[in-house]
Amino acid sequence: MLNKKYNDNNFWDFKGTYRTQLHTLGHYPATMVPEMQLKLMKDWKKDSDEIMLDPFMGSGTSLVEAQKLGMKVIGIDLNPYAVLLSQVKTHNYSNINWNKIKLRIHKKLTSNRYNLPIHNFYKIEKWFRPDIIKSLSKVRNVIKSENDEWIRKFLWVCMSEVIYKHSNDRTSTFKLYQKTDNQIKKIVDNVIKNFEDTIENKCIFLPAKELPTSLIYSGDTKKICLQIPNESIDIICTSPPYGENATTVTYGQSTILFLKWIDRKDLTCDNDEKLLSNFSSIDSLSLGGKNANENAYLSSTLEHFLSIINKSKQKKVRRFVSDYWEVIKELSRIIKKDGLIIFTIGNRIIDNQMQPLDKLTIEMFEKNNICLIQKISRHMLSRQTPQRVPKDNKKIKSMNKEQILVFRKEK
Ligand SMILES: C[S@@+](CC[C@H](N)C(=O)[O-])C[C@H]1O[C@@H](n2cnc3c(N)ncnc32)[C@H](O)[C@@H]1O
Repeated sequence: MLNKKYNDNNFWDFKGTYRTQLHTLGHYPATMVPEMQLKLMKDWKKDSDEIMLDPFMGSGTSLVEAQKLGMKVIGIDLNPYAVLLSQVKTHNYSNINWNKIKLRIHKKLTSNRYNLPIHNFYKIEKWFRPDIIKSLSKVRNVIKSENDEWIRKFLWVCMSEVIYKHSNDRTSTFKLYQKTDNQIKKIVDNVIKNFEDTIENKCIFLPAKELPTSLIYSGDTKKICLQIPNESIDIICTSPPYGENATTVTYGQSTILFLKWIDRKDLTCDNDEKLLSNFSSIDSLSLGGKNANENAYLSSTLEHFLSIINKSKQKKVRRFVSDYWEVIKELSRIIKKDGLIIFTIGNRIIDNQMQPLDKLTIEMFEKNNICLIQKISRHMLSRQTPQRVPKDNKKIKSMNKEQILVFRKEK
């Protein structure tokens, strides 16, 4: 045991800690607690020049924290907005004179030269009021006119924050859900000022020093991991999805309105036509989605869980677990001997029954000769979790705890 605090549930809740500003650069669902990932990696890592991989990096929380510890980082995500956020957060923005840039952008925003073209995509009028479309188009044209790719990438993140505040989406859930006509009428077009303020407030948090290298992949972890050589990674630190996106956290839907405005040229995107074509493609292609095999993983733990939930939901669980198993096998192959794996896991609830993802993860790694060395349970204080109110209004169990599982591959 490294530290007796490892047994203290409340210690791991990180109550009262605040997210550092870099982590709040852009909206992304279900982000990890940065302080927790930092503590875990710091306690368990050996050397500073180790390589850390996050196969489901999301907004890049563990990449940023690993870079602080001097580690080279590799991140993978299917969602191009997660990729953009992680790229910006792990890039060295020193040598940039933000005052000069802010002034230049301000001039462009006050000139009529950037009013046209007006941006368009399928169903744009459903998600944005016509005057907001005009204002956002101007911001988009201004960003496109900037020469430096890394400045543009940061500006797209700032614009996404403006979109979050000005779209017709309710934003109270991760699924897209249109506001009422009355609510839409009440949106104040503050796009231009809000964009400039966001640049002003956020540019000061960008990394501005030499950082360990980061390699960020856009695409399906199952496929990307195949490119990583055997036993080449020192630490894997991640929080995998709880289940297939469509019925858990719709990472795709919560970011698609941003992605629809960002110039494709600045998105690192595997198969962009398929992924960005409609509002739910990202979610349907994520782990356990429509490309998943159904029967790749067989175990009594899984069969027991399937036997206590509704038949109609079994297929989805099988698909998710099968895909998850494919990833675990790959991670077990690429982690070095004596390497460390830290998984932060949520056991989602289906039909009032807890899906034992922690137990499944432990048995999957054990099948690959990788043993659990530490298990921590913590309360989820701020992370938004999937909740549903059943038709009969009975209270249902909802996820309020997560497990941190630490594994070590044998020497
Ligand atoms: C729990 S989130 C990770 C959140 C992240 N730890 C953070 O702090 O922001 C899970 C991530 O897995 C990604 N994902 C789901 N299926 C994937 C797949 N097949 N390949 C790559 N990423 C996937 C989702 O897009 C989502 O960003």
